[in-house]
Amino acid sequence: MKKKLLWICAVSGVLWTASSCTNTSQQTTVDIIPQPQSVEVSGGEFTLKDGMTIAYSDASLKPAAEYLASMLGRSTGYKFQLEEGDGGDIRLQLSGEASAKEGSYSLEVNRGKAVVSAAGYPGVIAGVETIRQLLPAEIESPAVVDGKTWTMPAVSIADGPRFQWRGLMLDVSRHFYSKEEVMELLDLMALYKMNKFHWHLTDDQGWRIEIKKYPLLTEKGAWRTFNSQDRVCMRRAKAEHNSDFEIPESKLRIVEGDTLYGGYYTQEDIREVVKYAAVRGIDIIPEVDMPGHMLAAVSNYDGVSCFRQTGWGKMFSSPVCPGKESALEFCKNVYAEIFPLFPYKYVHLGADEVEKDNWKKCPDCQKRMRDNGLKTEEELQSWFVHQMEHFFNENGKELIGWDEIIEGGLSETATVMWWRNWNPQAVPTATAHGNHVIYCPNANFYLDYLQDKYSVQNIYTYGLAPDSLSEAQRSLVLGVQGNIWCEWIPSRERMQYMAFPRMMAIAEIGWSEPENQDWDGFERRMIGQFPRLGILNVNYRMPDLTGFHKTNAFVGETEVKVVSPDPSVAIHYTTDGSIPTLESPVYSSPVRITESTDFIFRSFRANGKAGDLFHTSFIKQEYAPATDAAPTKTGLQAVWHEGKTNSCAFIDRNPVKGTYEIADVSIPGAVKGDIGLVITGYFNAPSDGVYTFALLSDDGSTLKVDGAMVVDNDGPHSPQEVTGQRALAKGMHPIEVRYFDSNGGTLKLEVLDPEGKPMKEGIYMH
Ligand code: ACM
Ligand code: ZN
Repeated sequence: MKKKLLWICAVSGVLWTASSCTNTSQQTTVDIIPQPQSVEVSGGEFTLKDGMTIAYSDASLKPAAEYLASMLGRSTGYKFQLEEGDGGDIRLQLSGEASAKEGSYSLEVNRGKAVVSAAGYPGVIAGVETIRQLLPAEIESPAVVDGKTWTMPAVSIADGPRFQWRGLMLDVSRHFYSKEEVMELLDLMALYKMNKFHWHLTDDQGWRIEIKKYPLLTEKGAWRTFNSQDRVCMRRAKAEHNSDFEIPESKLRIVEGDTLYGGYYTQEDIREVVKYAAVRGIDIIPEVDMPGHMLAAVSNYDGVSCFRQTGWGKMFSSPVCPGKESALEFCKNVYAEIFPLFPYKYVHLGADEVEKDNWKKCPDCQKRMRDNGLKTEEELQSWFVHQMEHFFNENGKELIGWDEIIEGGLSETATVMWWRNWNPQAVPTATAHGNHVIYCPNANFYLDYLQDKYSVQNIYTYGLAPDSLSEAQRSLVLGVQGNIWCEWIPSRERMQYMAFPRMMAIAEIGWSEPENQDWDGFERRMIGQFPRLGILNVNYRMPDLTGFHKTNAFVGETEVKVVSPDPSVAIHYTTDGSIPTLESPVYSSPVRITESTDFIFRSFRANGKAGDLFHTSFIKQEYAPATDAAPTKTGLQAVWHEGKTNSCAFIDRNPVKGTYEIADVSIPGAVKGDIGLVITGYFNAPSDGVYTFALLSDDGSTLKVDGAMVVDNDGPHSPQEVTGQRALAKGMHPIEVRYFDSNGGTLKLEVLDPEGKPMKEGIYMH
């Protein structure tokens, strides 16, 4: 599909940006997410009026028409008539080629009519969501907005998704979300044409779905006393003045003097949520994770785990026992109640992170292995998955599992959800075997990972289904998914903060063809969506404040400048180490300083919601003198200490495995597995000036220049860049980079000259 220019002329309203246009004084872009395949603009506009008719061509579309009428009615206050037939001011109709990709639609809007045509319900809903976004943001208002004219531009849109799977996973085990909170998320998914909600219903920290045959799963398993993760959240709420980290009181109950925290969905609740999602074109994929992560089952029912164990700690690492018929029966009975609740093809078995020590010791497991010729516990895991898969298939379902299901042998029909970034062979292997895959590699698509100024872009620019796969393999890629794991996400507010705006990037790369994707355009449209999200009361994360580094150096005096990509926020700051509040000074123009100063900056939305804390130090320095050393070789020297560690400070405790010469700061090709690197040499400063060092790593890294710490990016973490500065006199300065990681990660150092330009060649000597 060729990229089309998306200009619209001669219309007015919230979507429009004024500039020159050939036949009028206004030029306009259609700012919707995800970017449609093609948009043509005919001029003119369509205006909603009270009493208009929404017609639907087939009874199966009635729920879509009701959904549209209720969405438009809330804010406009208008009553819309619904009728089955071919008329209507707004018409939803089944037409078009049945062979078109599910979700494809066309939308024709002119002065008199808006018509959505699609081969099926998903396409009609996609068209409805486009109408929603073409209307002013206030259409999202929960109450009537008086005096507003509700117009959308006359357009001709032909659109359809790149991938059939545009998913979002929510972990409701680690923290519980009410059905209303889940429905709100479904509404937001629909807004961006996401169509698969993966509901992670059980895990060690809570069982959230009623199973009538095994009532203890929820009677006991849905409730807990506060665990260490809850306590961290509560501490953060206080320390950061951030109520998003508080455990919601609505999810507490007092039993015999103990405060218990949790909740679960009855089967009736589940039916209600499934119905709500279906109206919005969203399938729900339940996951009851097994054979690991099954604490509620193994601790409340006999015959499910290998051994009768008592004690919470031991139970945590007790998976289901694949050697026992009683355990298999238990698992199948659970799913027998799950299947009828979710009328869709796919069901997720989980099967991640199984601690297999028990299986090695369990006579039943060992017998099962002997009887079936299974050589390893990985093969026993696969045997279990295959048993469940047969059961799924007998019940008309297809199994999805995390990419661990590849180990020990993949069955014919399983779909692999690739999450382990450090297992990059998952997609090539599974698709070569003929299995479908869904992308959600953790480094980019885990929405519980902390955000920085690159996290949205890291999603947006991720190459799904790359050319390194054959065409046949690419055709097996179902799509992409973002996962919200909730260990550290106790509230609806925090959940939304982590999901937005990243979720919008996932929606767009899942829907729009690569030639219709462009980061700058997306970023602009994303910021353009914030008023809409604001009206929807979504606690989205504001873009990072920029213009400074973690550590900044200056000589004499300097001006501290702060930039917000979203001009609607207010920036407050402190210099005494306290957390900025709305009462703290407002940053409105550059702040001049003559002494070392530590700032904390924080954005606030108009509704008072605060964003992340941006700590930055401005350190007054003299130009650090160069050394007398006269290194002769270009590049740097790297020493690999092999072994696990969790801090750069401990790298040298592990034995040296090899020494390498490298051109710049990077992981030498031969270094793999458990990595501890110490990279040394000299940085050659071509002139006196303040130099900037940007150190990106997964996991931790540190940079010292002249023995002084300039970037501290230490600790276990996913890819994260930290920048620092130092004032250097012309000449050689000793540097040391330390880096550790297990499973192969990322390491990169970029140096900027005093003008802020990247330095490339000949900057290192040793
Ligand atoms: C996972 O993150 N354990 C699938
Ligand atoms: Zn066993």
